[in-house]
Amino acid sequence: MSIPFLSFTPQHAPIRAEILAAIVQVYDNQWYVLGEQVKAFEIEYSLFNKVAHTIGVANSLDALHLALEALGVQAGDEVIVPSNTYIATWLAISFVGGVPVPVEPNPHTYNLDPTRLEAAITPRTKGIMPVHLYGQACEMSAIQEIASRHGLWMVEDNAQSQGATWEGHLIGSFGQVNGTSLGFLILGQGENSTT
Ligand SMILES: Cc1ncc(COP(=O)(O)O)c(C=O)c1O
Repeated sequence: MSIPFLSFTPQHAPIRAEILAAIVQVYDNQWYVLGEQVKAFEIEYSLFNKVAHTIGVANSLDALHLALEALGVQAGDEVIVPSNTYIATWLAISFVGGVPVPVEPNPHTYNLDPTRLEAAITPRTKGIMPVHLYGQACEMSAIQEIASRHGLWMVEDNAQSQGATWEGHLIGSFGQVNGTSLGFLILGQGENSTT
């Protein structure tokens, strides 16, 4: 028996007709940037992720970059990231002149280890970017508690884990602003956001 190294067929086959119909609708409509389809998707994503606002952008790197611009990250500001994150999280910080400060992951989950967070905080730290890797939510209650205590913002990167939950709460709704793949900028006031 030959087992393919990579195959999305089991995921794609059941939704093939629905996805192709949606693509044809956008193609025929000829409105590729913004427009009604994007608006409908933004509204549906807000309902799905239980957040106040969702804005469609080009990709997840743009979402993270715009989130940091919106939070006013300045040259030299330090932002904590998991050391094993995908490069986009790191690039979003360096693009606005910030300094990414890597923190090692929990070896059991490969996600940001809250017990190592406080040692990385300095007077120049402005925020924390928890990245929910491999479909697993970060330990958000501990991370959120540390962020609140030190007056830091959080920007979640949930490009890899849409729909995952932490203690029953959807991720992508804890940070002040969050980014996800498909290119969505998710604005705070989610059900779990502290601001
Ligand atoms: C954790 C994480 N963040 C950000 C991105 C960037 O996503 P995009 O390719 O939509 O810019 C990815 C892409 O794989 C990712 O895995």
